[in-house]
Amino acid sequence: MASKTDKRSATYNQLESGTERSRPILHQNAREIQPYGKIAKLPIALDEKVCAASAENLNQVLADTITLRDLYKKHHWQVAGHTFYQLHLLFDKHHNEQDELVDTIAERIQSLGAISLAMAADIAETSIIPRPPRGREEVPAQISRLLEAHEIVLKEARTMARQAAEAGDDGTNDVLVSDVIRTNELQVWFLAEHLVDVPAVRADQAKAASSGG
Ligand SMILES: [Fe+2]
Repeated sequence: MASKTDKRSATYNQLESGTERSRPILHQNAREIQPYGKIAKLPIALDEKVCAASAENLNQVLADTITLRDLYKKHHWQVAGHTFYQLHLLFDKHHNEQDELVDTIAERIQSLGAISLAMAADIAETSIIPRPPRGREEVPAQISRLLEAHEIVLKEARTMARQAAEAGDDGTNDVLVSDVIRTNELQVWFLAEHLVDVPAVRADQAKAASSGG
């Protein structure tokens, strides 16, 4: 007959083994299942070379879109002056729209069987948008910087959209035209109107008279 001590130790052992089984397995390592730049072909009726070329282009647009998105957040935080509130809100709206683009582009890359860039260090190495200073800039400089970044994205997106169409990759062409190009063009309009030098309160009577108006 088992003693009380034996019973206690049996229960303790059961508890121990139960705890062991439900314990998370930590600090695991394994080789990558897909190296960056390689295609894991999916049945989407597109040649592997076409997928690879589109993915390489899309990763460039992705890196620049992530950079532009982050530039909007920087300006959302650092904007100054009498238009603070409206620009604070506008910059955040554009940031959120760019963030949606980031997900659309990244998931298009994954849909091609490729790997999308993700981490800040890789984005910094890849983006061609000039790095802004850490400090605060005046509103016109902030807006000019954003407009230049938009134009970089638009220029490359148009070239890449044509390349995708010529290669028969209509899905990538559609993402670039319907999502990237349309969104960026609209945001450029909203920004650029802030750099039109018109009076805020009193119309310029002298100019109107001299132009015969
Ligand atoms: Fe905020």
